Amino acid sequence: MKYDYNKIIDRSKTNSEKYLLRKELFGTEDVLPMWVADMDIFTPPFVVEAIKKRANEPIYGYEEIPNSAFEAQIGWMKKRHNLNLKREWMLYSHSVVSTINVAIKAFSKVGDKIIVQTPVYYPFMRSVRFNNREILFNPLKKDEKGDYTFDFEDLKSKIDKDTKLLLLCSPHNPVGRVWKKEELLELATICLENDIKVLSDEIHSDLVYDPYKHIPFASLSKEISKITMTAIGPGKSFNLAGLSITTVAIEDDMMRDVFDKVHRSIHFSHGSVFSHVGFEVAYKEGEEWLDGLLIHLKENVLSLYNLLQTSNKISMNLPEATYLAWLDCANMKLSDEKIKELFIKEAKLGLNPGYIFGKDEGRGFMRLNFGVSKITMNEALKRLEKIL
Ligand SMILES: Cc1ncc(COP(=O)(O)O)c(C=O)c1O
Repeated sequence: MKYDYNKIIDRSKTNSEKYLLRKELFGTEDVLPMWVADMDIFTPPFVVEAIKKRANEPIYGYEEIPNSAFEAQIGWMKKRHNLNLKREWMLYSHSVVSTINVAIKAFSKVGDKIIVQTPVYYPFMRSVRFNNREILFNPLKKDEKGDYTFDFEDLKSKIDKDTKLLLLCSPHNPVGRVWKKEELLELATICLENDIKVLSDEIHSDLVYDPYKHIPFASLSKEISKITMTAIGPGKSFNLAGLSITTVAIEDDMMRDVFDKVHRSIHFSHGSVFSHVGFEVAYKEGEEWLDGLLIHLKENVLSLYNLLQTSNKISMNLPEATYLAWLDCANMKLSDEKIKELFIKEAKLGLNPGYIFGKDEGRGFMRLNFGVSKITMNEALKRLEKIL
């Protein structure tokens, strides 16, 4: 492989959230942190070079994200995901979570209902609560093999006139699903019939494993695109979350206008001097790096999966996307607190407990981030073996 995904990184010098919050989250610094969706893998060298070059220009005043950066992302989305975007549909947003919050403020009022499909990335729930809207829980359905899908009947039975927005996670964190076209179409039909707008969080869309294929929600039809806000960015794909730069694509002019007014009222501004160049070069030059990363991640997850084949305590399904493994620990027959304690104290692993992704649906699960070097992965497996 042209790029090295196995270099050892000392993140203790760089204010890394994953490491700094160990004490607060796990009560000790003596854990290998495999929680937040941030990889212990070096940022691509061409991104580092572009930022260094910019840093050497000693003027860091206000900047605009250039058109060439948007065009680089538009070209990427067309090539990798067959999504046709236009420059005028695209807005800068410094994070997907801020996009979610703006969408909630823009398209609902206090007391309205927002659909959340648990277990799911916990800021979905938090964003609805912070804005004093009501969460309409539409839990994913799990079959006996542990495969998840949408529960359309549950959704249809709960929707009413106060239901304004669906927060869709596609591909899905933490269950790792890449939604099929039929699934997305059925969901879209329900939204169209009930005048519900869709915030489609597609931040993990580049991290999809063969043979699965990400289908952007907005690519389903013109009519569906007109109710959709697509949140995308290079943060997960190229490990650039610390650059705080994403975009949101909104085709419908009126919707985009309403969104933009709320966004501007908060004054998130236009991003940073360094994020602009990092963003552009990642989309322009990142294909080979990303393809190599996907091979590396697949090898990591297979080593975890193979180890768990020998266990009657913890099981998992192979994720179709993301570098997050959703570990089913129900066979341990322990409370969530005990499972968490076992991981911290016996295995010395810092994982996210499943219940934060959904009180009931996440019970008995742990989420493990396998976006690490081979050496770290092997260390994690050794530690995991202690509790198998
Ligand atoms: C599904 C999903 N959306 C959004 C985010 C966060 O994105 P941002 O840092 O741009 O808010 C994450 C990070 O883990 C995520 O998994």
